[in-house]
Amino acid sequence: MRLVKSIDQVRKAVRAQKEQGKKIGLVPTMGYLHEGHLSLVRLARRKCNFLVVSIFVNPAQFGPKEDLREYPRDLKRDLQLLKKEGVDLVFCPSVAAMYPGGYQTYVEVVGWNKILCGASRPVHFRGVATVVLKLFNIIEPDIAVFGRKDFQQAVIIERMVKDLDLDVKILTGRIVRERDGLAMSSRNTYLSAEQRKNAAILYQSLKWLKQAYVNGLRDPKTAESRMAAMITARDGRIDYIAFVDKNSLEPVKELRRGTLAAFAVFFGKTRLIDNTVLGSNLDIGHLFIPM
Ligand code: PAF
Repeated sequence: MRLVKSIDQVRKAVRAQKEQGKKIGLVPTMGYLHEGHLSLVRLARRKCNFLVVSIFVNPAQFGPKEDLREYPRDLKRDLQLLKKEGVDLVFCPSVAAMYPGGYQTYVEVVGWNKILCGASRPVHFRGVATVVLKLFNIIEPDIAVFGRKDFQQAVIIERMVKDLDLDVKILTGRIVRERDGLAMSSRNTYLSAEQRKNAAILYQSLKWLKQAYVNGLRDPKTAESRMAAMITARDGRIDYIAFVDKNSLEPVKELRRGTLAAFAVFFGKTRLIDNTVLGSNLDIGHLFIPM
């Protein structure tokens, strides 16, 4: 497995593989890898024959009051994990390489970048779309894999790919959960022991919703207030709970097959997101049982 930091070098390395007819896969990450990331790496590994993983904590997707500086990093451990997964190349650029002095070009998927998570993180999706487009231009992957925990991110990237005629196929991977159902996230490490215990309510609220939907619940307002009550009883502070169409991200008046139930909740200062799609085979994610 090669570690490459320069844009020119990664371009050369990938183009050499393309010339040999290899299908290129990319899994973009911000590092501090967990089983959720590794499941995306495994999915990509099966779909390509030269696999690039990028590790870059992208400043453009953090607001001025967000956790850019504290965002956890452990490159040595990440590289060990990726080597075991049979990754071919890790691209790990510096901020100066990605955003050199004078940088002033950004990509916005207009509208969708200001709703749901975008309402409280106004620059977030602009930063994500920009860095992902840059990575696509640098690596020119045939396929790229994103996780469904960041459902809105995946939808926005799919839209950008369509709108800008990018020649890359987007695949999404299931949410991977801890034993108690909490979706895996690098940010889970910020939680105190008590917050970590309480955060399991997020999964329980999604399980409740799935069952309530099967039992006939159709009113989003009732669903929202029941879920909010469950979460706030465990000291979670709701940023938003939303019920939207999974393709258009438009709010629904009635819960139905294909409704995306998504939320962001603070435990202390840590903002966690999770979601599920009602009545579809995009299931609630699977539990990771450590060996
Ligand atoms: O999902 C993430 O880790 C990031 O938003 C991404 C896609 C790597 C862009 O920085």
